Amino acid sequence: MTRGLFLWLSRNGTLKKLSREFYPFWKMASRFIAGHSLDEAVEVVKKLNSSGLKVTLDHLGENTTTPEEAVSAGDAYIQILDRIQKEKLDATISVKLTQLGMDISDRLVKENIERITAQAYHMHNFVRIDMESSEYTQKTLDIYYWLKGKYNGSIGIVIQTYLYRCEDDIKKVIAEGGNVRLVKGAYNEPPDIAFPKKRDVDLNYKRMLDLLLSHEAISRGTFTAVATHDEKLINYAKSLISERSIPLEYVEFQMLYGIRTDLQYSLVNDGYTVRVYVPFGDEWYPYFMRRLAERPANVIFLLKNLMK
Ligand code: FDA
Repeated sequence: MTRGLFLWLSRNGTLKKLSREFYPFWKMASRFIAGHSLDEAVEVVKKLNSSGLKVTLDHLGENTTTPEEAVSAGDAYIQILDRIQKEKLDATISVKLTQLGMDISDRLVKENIERITAQAYHMHNFVRIDMESSEYTQKTLDIYYWLKGKYNGSIGIVIQTYLYRCEDDIKKVIAEGGNVRLVKGAYNEPPDIAFPKKRDVDLNYKRMLDLLLSHEAISRGTFTAVATHDEKLINYAKSLISERSIPLEYVEFQMLYGIRTDLQYSLVNDGYTVRVYVPFGDEWYPYFMRRLAERPANVIFLLKNLMK
């Protein structure tokens, strides 16, 4: 129930506006967010890199409503790529297609994501397209495959194991030798398209790992980012990698900034690649609400602090 409530609140425009003016709220959100500006985020990236962690940078924002906003979001990502190259950061980028104009027009979003991906390709960098709510799933996959045909090696997708369609999507990614980040899924989805029970989502995650961390997938060049903080699933992935002798260049672990830092370091110490998803910017409200929705303990922590 708490999850549904917070995911619903994440779309509330009035609360979003209020949260920006309410400093204690930002203070709590900043546990998960690397700052407002690119300069602040770059400092965080440098620290993570110096501890052996790779990064993917997310300039927060979603569901833009004007072409100007969408183009400016695209420009910001080009600047981020330039900065990564200039400062020799070990970092890629993660983008949301609704930030780049998917709600406005197909032409706009395609032009915007293509110029970012082309830039990343020329710089030998990489763009991961985040997966948003289910109304965007097919369109996002279509754009991914279109870009993969032109900029293979510089573009990746995300698949959510709470969706029933997930297995078909994973099989296609494998057939195409794609690059996938596997996640449980962070949005509010109805039971006719997504598993309502967490244990089914977790079980499906395991089944997808079985497919992705297989010799068939590897022989086609499939790359898997195991993106979860769930220790049982991480251990399951580790056991598959070891039992099946999966080469480590085909897999990495990914976690969100501010969550399970201990686990991030322990995986690095064990010799695995770990990439931290580092969000920054002023549009932090929906991202923060999704983090609250994931864990009731976060909500209790928030309420206690608000009361103080
Ligand atoms: P689960 O929710 O079972 O949590 C396992 C443990 O992790 C918890 O017991 C707790 O210790 C810790 N934990 C998890 N969430 C926490 C939180 N918010 N605060 C504190 N501790 C927490 N989703 C999506 O729909 N589209 C996307 O593109 C992405 N992208 C993405 C990138 C990366 C790098 C990660 C790690 C995750 C995403 N996600 C995502 C989010 C994902 O779908 C999922 O909501 C979260 O990862 C939480 O689920 P876990 O797999 O961590 O498991």
